[in-house]
Amino acid sequence: MKWKRTHSCGELTINEVTQSVILMGWVDRRRDHGGIIFIDLRDRYGITQVQVNPNSEAYNEAKKLRSEYVVAFKGVVVARPEGMINTKLKTGEIELVASEIEILNMAATPSIPITGEINASEDLRLKYRFLDLRRADMQSNMIIRHKTAQIVRNYFSDNNFLEIETPFLMKSTPEGARDFLVPSRVWRGKFYALPQSPQTYKQILMISGFDRYFQIVRCFRDEDLRADRQPEFTQIDVEMSFIDEEDVFSIMEGLMVRVMKEILNVEIKTPFQRIPYNTAMEKYGIDRPDLRFGLEIHNISDIVKESEFKVFSDTVKAGNIVAGICAPGCGSFSRKQIDDLTAWTKEAGAKGLVAIKVKENDWDSPLNKFFSDNQRKEIIKQFNANDGDLFLFVADEKNNALPILGDLRIKIAKQQNLINPNLYKMAWVVDFPLFEYSTEEARYVACHHPFTSPVPGDLDKLLSEPEKVRARAYDLILNGLEIAGGSIRISDSDIQSKMFKALGISDKEAQSKFGFLLDALKYGAPPHGGIAFGFDRLIMILTGCSSIRDVIAFPKTASAASLMDGAPSDVSSEQLLELGLKIVDGL
Ligand code: AMO
Ligand code: AMP
Repeated sequence: MKWKRTHSCGELTINEVTQSVILMGWVDRRRDHGGIIFIDLRDRYGITQVQVNPNSEAYNEAKKLRSEYVVAFKGVVVARPEGMINTKLKTGEIELVASEIEILNMAATPSIPITGEINASEDLRLKYRFLDLRRADMQSNMIIRHKTAQIVRNYFSDNNFLEIETPFLMKSTPEGARDFLVPSRVWRGKFYALPQSPQTYKQILMISGFDRYFQIVRCFRDEDLRADRQPEFTQIDVEMSFIDEEDVFSIMEGLMVRVMKEILNVEIKTPFQRIPYNTAMEKYGIDRPDLRFGLEIHNISDIVKESEFKVFSDTVKAGNIVAGICAPGCGSFSRKQIDDLTAWTKEAGAKGLVAIKVKENDWDSPLNKFFSDNQRKEIIKQFNANDGDLFLFVADEKNNALPILGDLRIKIAKQQNLINPNLYKMAWVVDFPLFEYSTEEARYVACHHPFTSPVPGDLDKLLSEPEKVRARAYDLILNGLEIAGGSIRISDSDIQSKMFKALGISDKEAQSKFGFLLDALKYGAPPHGGIAFGFDRLIMILTGCSSIRDVIAFPKTASAASLMDGAPSDVSSEQLLELGLKIVDGL
């Protein structure tokens, strides 16, 4: 490299005209115009147009330039002639007239387009991630990610929080998702686990007196992946002492207000809405409802119980429910559209779907005769339904009907364009149950995690009626995503032991897996609680992306592979031997 770069490709304006400058970057585009060569030179700051004239020393070299060559130009900044100004570019009023050139590196023909619309498959993009990350929208995503991380760090630091690192090699614990294990060479046959979150460490930090902790930290979970899940992802992890739920809410609301303002220039009102878990399930069929649109679920069991429509009345008499949504303006749906919806609902696990059109304040359906005038009117009233709307009803067990209707609600909202993409609707979901029964494991498992405090008034039911115990847990939801979850913790070692018992973890196992925490809780644990944000999910929303893979520089595919470097991969037999491991085929 002969020169030092003086400016970036996004920097020069009319103010620098006549200056001699040196730019370095990638060839975004090369155009030959009757002898003159125009090059769009690109770096992460922008694009500057470079002009190379046939009489310039740079001309012969410039002819060799191809897309993505790395090049340095020395030249003079000139104002573009009127009519040639590009208002879309920051540098659109000027161009660089090159006098000298140095080709810094050549480039093979890129396997995916760097400029313009990306139509390459995601697999190809992941394989050539070094090129994909050169694209403007990926660069913008990384910049937003960086800016958000800085805002988070400043916010917590301003509020007296300390960022403290916690280990990546820790003890494997039995709760939550599957652990990623790391074999120990020194301790042959023993394993570390990568942390699913720093949960126990941050609680220990509270016990050690660091009353306000945060960390932007990587977490590892060997679980089934989806568009909003990665095997390694980043949390904004927070823990506080001498606090209750309200303190956690107000600190986090303050953070969200700052992030939304500084990144999106959107004003968010506080306090955020609070929705009890049961209400969320009943109104939206999900514990992380998208609140940007209505379409709420209504339970019509009481009204249809005495109807002559057996599908409904028998369901209610069997102790199950009939519920539905009212799709505005969908009364015009064709036979085929309704059949498709029915098929989709059945695919989702429903036994059927009843679709009823609303017309002139009554139903317009062959089923009218099975319901009294009153029943039909009551239902119209309950939904506040209008002419031209469409009722969609499902009769089933509550735990089946509500989630299916929740999915149907989102499907209709998307199909009918009811979601305003410029809205950001946040809410706290509260009053979660402490446990849920896992039929797979034939035992109760913690809804949040086993360190979550029960509501004090429910303590006596911990072992006798675990399903009735409420948790001091909360989730923060944004536009249908759970972006954070946390709880007030158990700070008493006896209650923590009882909690393990309720989870079917024996004293011996609890001692061997969590002995350090049970021990620490005996040495003056302050009341404490906290929360963790899914940082990638937050960035996904801030950038308007639909997959967290687009906001992570080097993500894994849905099958947990890294297509660029080929991880996971085989290792040598020497490496295995050193660790005392043997791969058994056919298991
Ligand atoms: P939780 O398990 O709810 O809580 O995780 C907190 C947040 O992390 C995000 N998240 C994920 N993001 C991407 N990929 C994943 N696989 C993934 N799993 C979770 C979600 C979620 O809300 N220690 C507790 C927090 C606490 O109690 O303080 C914990 O980890 O956005
Ligand atoms: P059937 O009595 O099975 O012919 O069903 C009559 C209508 O009710 C059909 O449109 C079915 O799709 C619908 N249906 C049947 N079972 C259910 C159910 N559990 N929930 C909602 N609709 C149902």
